[in-house]
Amino acid sequence: MNTILMTTLTISGITGILALLLSVANRTIANYGEMKLTINDEKEYTVEGGDSLLSTLIEEEIFIPSACGGKGSCGYCKVKVTQGGGEILPTELGYVTPEEQREGIRLSCQLKVKTDLKIEIPEELFNVRQYDYTLSYMADVTDKIKHLRLRLPENATIDFKPGQYVQILTPVYKESDEEVYRAYSIASSPVNKNHIELLIGYVPEGICTTYIHKYLKEKDRLTIVGPFGDFYYRDTDREMIMVGIGTGMAPLLSILRYMRDQGIQRKGTFFFGARTREDLFLTEEIDEISRTLKDIEIVYTLSRPTPECHWEGPVGRVNDLLDKRLDDCSRLEAYLCGSPLMIDAVMEVFKKKDFPLEHIHYDKFE
Ligand SMILES: Cc1cc2nc3c(=O)[nH]c(=O)nc-3n(C[C@H](O)[C@H](O)[C@H](O)COP(=O)(O)OP(=O)(O)OC[C@H]3O[C@@H](n4cnc5c(N)ncnc54)[C@H](O)[C@@H]3O)c2cc1C
Ligand code: FES
Repeated sequence: MNTILMTTLTISGITGILALLLSVANRTIANYGEMKLTINDEKEYTVEGGDSLLSTLIEEEIFIPSACGGKGSCGYCKVKVTQGGGEILPTELGYVTPEEQREGIRLSCQLKVKTDLKIEIPEELFNVRQYDYTLSYMADVTDKIKHLRLRLPENATIDFKPGQYVQILTPVYKESDEEVYRAYSIASSPVNKNHIELLIGYVPEGICTTYIHKYLKEKDRLTIVGPFGDFYYRDTDREMIMVGIGTGMAPLLSILRYMRDQGIQRKGTFFFGARTREDLFLTEEIDEISRTLKDIEIVYTLSRPTPECHWEGPVGRVNDLLDKRLDDCSRLEAYLCGSPLMIDAVMEVFKKKDFPLEHIHYDKFE
């Protein structure tokens, strides 16, 4: 027994020392020096080698989407590498399709800058900025979701499209010793450029949501980067199908508020799903919006209503509801937001009903 314990301790000790040596070597011996980073064949930067491409770009104040904070688990931080970069890494394979690999797409959080690099990124990413917001209002809208209003300094503004998201830079705090970025959809209308609103659900042991729910107080400052995302309102005359479950309704609320503010009258249905009646929120404002946007029907749907709910509306999963309600989809446009499970289930229904795929927009909260 003692021999087994000693062997285990020795192996753990050796592994620990090796890991430490590797990390020291990475920082000291592997001194890559200065590298040339060329973006979109026109902008050239001299950067310090050795760090991830994602962090190197942040140093240059170029912000690539990074919903998982650089852990290689969201697939959001893709860039096209046209020169340098070496072979794709095993940690990238799950997120970069074979076709993307042929085009040179890489996960910028996994690729280390060890040689000169040429990359291509969408021009709009040059407009992404880091903002210093102050929390001006925070309230519980359910027992697990907080509604935040964040204000920029006077005269400062942010431009975004309704439906886009920002990333909160969660600082080091009592329960986390690392700074992480997390993505949150903007719920407010872009008409007001001085503030944004967010709806943030609590995830047990989640780094950012624990900070927001347990530590953040009114008047605190919060660093936010954005806007990001190609999930945003399209100005077409197609009939809209909007589906938001839980906090997934946030970007759809932004779209509805924008349509109200701009007086845009379009035909559409907003399916707002939750578990129980208590999990539905901001319904007074949504009902008010639907009185202004007369052609928008609001459908509240519950997956697990309790007897106390006395719920008379639709019950069950939203994909089943859509399966029953949708007929000819050729003139429709869809906006879906929420868990990957819900979106995949709805996509199955859409495919079955020949929904035009180019008119489906979604954001998976993963
Ligand atoms: C484009 C985009 C927009 C988003 N918008 C919003 C938004 O408007 N409001 C909002 O509340 N969230 C939103 N999210 C989710 C958000 O970015 C975070 O993933 C979530 O808040 C958890 O962050 P965390 O740091 O607290 O948890 P983490 O520290 O990242 O996670 C801790 C653990 O919880 C697990 N976990 C993470 N999320 C969930 C979950 N939802 N349910 C169960 N387990 C989970 C993780 O796998 C991990 O094991 C969005 C995500 C994306 C990609
Ligand atoms: S930042 Fe999430 S995979 Fe790179």
